[in-house]
Formats: sequence, structure tokens, C-alpha cells
Amino acid sequence: MCGIVGYIGKKEKITKIISCLENLEYRGYDSSGIAYLDDGKINIIKKTGRIKNLKDFISDTETSLAITHTRWATHGQANDINAHPHSVGKITIVHNGIIENYQELKNKLQELGIIFKTETDTEVAAALLNKLYNDKNDILKAILAFEKIARGSYAIAIIVEGNNNLYVVKKDSPLIIGLKNDGYYIASDVPAILKETNRYITLEDYEFAEIKEEKLTIYNNKMEIVNYEVKAFESGVEQIDKGNYEHFMLKEINEEDTVIKNTFNYYFEHFDEIIDITKYKNIEIIACGSAYNVGLIGKNLIEENLDIKTDVYLASEYRYQKQFTEKETLVIAISQSGETADTLAAIKIANKKATTLSIVNVIDSSIARESKQVLYTKAGIEIAVATTKAYISQLVVLTMLVIKGLKVKEQLNDEKSLLSEIENLPKLVRNLIEKDDYKKIAEKIYKSNDMYFIGRGIDASIAREASLKMKEVSYVHSEYYAAGELKHGTISLIEEKTPVIGIISDINILPKTMSNIKETASRGANIIIVTSEDISKENYKYVINISKVNKLLQPILLVIPFQLLAYETAKLRGCSIDKPRNLAKSVTVE
Ligand code: AGP
Ligand code: GLU
Repeated sequence: MCGIVGYIGKKEKITKIISCLENLEYRGYDSSGIAYLDDGKINIIKKTGRIKNLKDFISDTETSLAITHTRWATHGQANDINAHPHSVGKITIVHNGIIENYQELKNKLQELGIIFKTETDTEVAAALLNKLYNDKNDILKAILAFEKIARGSYAIAIIVEGNNNLYVVKKDSPLIIGLKNDGYYIASDVPAILKETNRYITLEDYEFAEIKEEKLTIYNNKMEIVNYEVKAFESGVEQIDKGNYEHFMLKEINEEDTVIKNTFNYYFEHFDEIIDITKYKNIEIIACGSAYNVGLIGKNLIEENLDIKTDVYLASEYRYQKQFTEKETLVIAISQSGETADTLAAIKIANKKATTLSIVNVIDSSIARESKQVLYTKAGIEIAVATTKAYISQLVVLTMLVIKGLKVKEQLNDEKSLLSEIENLPKLVRNLIEKDDYKKIAEKIYKSNDMYFIGRGIDASIAREASLKMKEVSYVHSEYYAAGELKHGTISLIEEKTPVIGIISDINILPKTMSNIKETASRGANIIIVTSEDISKENYKYVINISKVNKLLQPILLVIPFQLLAYETAKLRGCSIDKPRNLAKSVTVE
């Protein structure tokens, strides 16, 4: 996944360039490194672990050219040697992505006598570029030839010994070029360089650029000069600051009432932008991780309310399985980052067969550009690796799709009361966030090795997200289960004090889920219940009550306690909450 930042211009402090790179640490934090021009020579420093480790070795010097990288290792261990930048001959590069045919290329290059020092695919890319540069004596021609040979995904920034320019090339991994008055920044996303400039250009697949101190030239894969469009990023720079919060995750949960309000307001004001999903025969939702979990809720809302058959696919599976997507299908991709490699690849496949729509948070991201239509969520920049406010905003957009569908079908009963509930929702969200239950409950469960989240119907989909949230930030093993399924095997894992968290948001299934909860209680489980129903007679000690709202809005409220429970549990366990181990926010590799 990796984050890339580069600079070329009059002069910039290295510390400033590295502070831009720190904004990309959410993309990976196995190691980091920098190559910069120092008195006409390329100086390289790289260190395992967080960027702060690198900073200890960085002086306050200025440079006119630098490339930097924060790594999420795919090929080769997370150590100093495998850290980027990688140099071969005259070429030094940083790379985001995977060179899929690296082994084949490596074998060929080894036959030519090249000795490799690292386990990475990136060093192979550097060696290939170096060979092509030696053959052609022209770096642009070398890059063009590289595009024809290398398979897989890459955003690569290149510096060439004896040449003061910066070169970039990309395919299937994001790269933008930021424009300053006295130079250029390159980065994996715009927020990383927002403190320097908000004017940027998005590089398209197979495009490559030569960036000189005062001139930018972008080429396509026919080596023709491309006319580029300079865009302005409008979102606030203040969002990349933690403010008074201890963690971005907590800050972002606390923004949820505003995000819900903004997203609903925007789409009510721009009701025409919402497509009419009722004209499609069936719907397929493709996404990964939490976005997939949102998709499951979407399925439930669409099927129950609009009677349209909806299937939800993990994007990584959709790509390689038999697809039933037809012309009359609407394919919806859901993604916060808009850069998830599997979702992007899946939408490209779907584009050939059907109408595609994406629900995306990052404006102008690859998935947004690739899909035929896009509905942006209004969550603002999300920094914590674990998604919270973006998840909520995706739910809101799906809810709006359903509301629009109901309106088209003239089946939106009691619209007035739904609208007034929507207006009141941010207040309920605020109250829920401010409850003091989460820490108290976390104190009871944080030492457990395993946890189980159970529910039926839509509650099972919430359970799935609750379990993922707990795993990723607190490192406690947890599973979600459709409550009725537990007794078919997994109940054997319930021991004295195993936390079982039951979710109940529907009076009709309350007795059924309650029976499943009791089955685990009989085996010693420590029961916690999150519910919008009145279960006061049940006499359970740990109950989080949430307000009962219109069925369309209930999932939005239901998920919040679990975000906070995961946060508090992770805090008690001393975990790295905003950047959990082994994870990265933008998963731009398969
Ligand atoms: C959620 O907390 C995770 N970090 C992860 O599952 C995420 O939702 C998934 O990687 C999809 O990302 P996307 O929304 O940017 O496509
Ligand atoms: N494949 C490269 C490596 O392992 C880059 C990884 C990435 O972009 O995630 O170093």
C-alpha cells in the first residue's frame, strides 16, 4: 500500500517533506526512507518501523529534489534493507504496488549479471529501469519501455543520477502532482500535501511525467504530451489534525453526528443526483472489509424496502469467480478511500457488463473515476485506519438510495415523520457517543482472549462490523455469528467468562436472539447486550440501550456503541489505536 511523497523545486526543508509523508503513514508503517539531492549527490536514509525512527536520522537540511516512502511490505520482510528507496546503477526509486512478474524479470536480470541485495519486487523494478536507461540513454524512453514490460500495479517516483529532474509513472496505484508557486510535490493522495498546496493534477494509468523545477510535462503511453487539468482540493486542512482528542479514531467517532447531518442534508438538497435504483432488475454490491459490512446492511434495506434482489460480494472474490452480472444489473462499489485495489479491479470488470455506481469518500479517487456514476459520502478526511465516520456516511448514502426508491414507487409512508426523525438523528447520535457505558464494559472484557458478537438479520451484519472493529484495533480475537448458527459448532468455544455481545434491534426476533444469548449464558458466557428494545425484565447487568428509531435509520445508531467499545478496549490494552499493527488504511495491493 505504501505512501509516497516527493518534492522538486527551489528548496525545501527535508523535515517539511517528511512531515507530509507522515500524513500518509496510515498507508503503511513497516519502514520509511528518503533519497534526496545533497550537494549534487543522492543521499539515502532508510529505517525500519515508524517514520519517527527515520526522523532521528534526518537533519534540518534543505534540498531541491527528494523522494520519500512509508512502506507496507508485500515482498520481503520489514527491515532496513528492504525499505525504500531502492537504487540500482543510476536509478533510485520508491514504489507503491506489486510488480507481479518480478520473479521472471529478476531471473533474466540475474542472468545479465545483476546482483540483488533485497527481497523486494521494487528493487527489480529499479534494476529494469536502470537496464532500459542504459540501453536507450533516455529516461523517458526507458519509462515507456518499462510500462510495456512490468505487470501488476505501480506508482513509482524516480530520480536519476546526474539529472536533477523528478520522474513519476503509474498504473493501478494512485499518484497526484501538487503545484506550488516555486516547485512541485508528488504524493499518494492530496491531503498529505495539503499544508503545502491544494492545487493538484491526478495522473492516469500509464501516464508518466517529467517534472523540472519550473516545468511539468505529462506523457501518455504513446509518448504524446497530455493536456492536464489542475484541480483544487476543497476539504479542510484542519481535518488532518487531532485537535484535543487523544486519537483520530475518537475524534472521527465524535464527528459522526455532523457527518450524518451533512450527508443527509446534501442528498436531500441534491435529490436529483441520487439515482433511481428501482429501474434495475437486480443489484450487486462489491466492497472489502467494513465497506463490505455496510453492503450487507444495504442488501437488507434494499431487499426489504424495494423488493430488488441484492447480492453482496467481497471484491477480492468477485474478481475471480463466475459473475452473473447482466446488462440490467446495477453494480454498486463501496469504498472510503476509492483506491482499494480489489474493488477497483472489480468495478473495471463490472463496467464492461453493467451500469456501475460507486459510493466513495475520497473525491476524484480511482474508483470514483472508474465508475459510471458516483455518490460521494460527506465524511471528510478520515485518518484512523479503522473506519468509523466513513462507515456511517456510507450507511446514510445507502439509506438515501432506498428513500429515493420508495419515493419513486410512491411507497414512502409517513414521509413527514421520517424526515423529522432524520432531523433528530444527530442529537441521538451525540447522546449515544457521550454515554459512559463503553469504558465500564471494556474494563470487564479487555483481558479476554476471544469474544463473540451475535445477532440475527440486520443485527448479524452489525455484529460482523462490531467484530472486525474489535479485532483490528484491540487485537482480541473475535468472531461474529448469526445468532441461530452458533449452536451448530462454535458454541463449543464458549467458556466461563467468554464475552458474548448480543445485538437486538427488532422486536420480532427478540425472543429468538434472546434464546441464543441464554444458551451461551448457560455455558458461563459474560453477556453484554446492545438493544433498541425494552429488555429490562431480562435482568442482564451490561446492557447498552439505544433509541428506537425508524427501521431505515436503526443501523446508523446500532453500530456506534461497537466503535466505542472497540476503542476503549484497545486503549485499555495499550494498542496502537490509529495505526494498528500490520494494517494500512488504503489497500492498494491485491
Ligand atoms: C475498516 O476499519 C478497515 N480498515 C478495512 O476493512 C476497510 O474498510 C477496507 O480495507 C476497505 O477500504 P475502503 O473502504 O477504502 O475501500
Ligand atoms: N511491493 C513493494 C514492497 O514490498 C511495495 C509495497 C506496497 O506498495 O504496499 O516493498
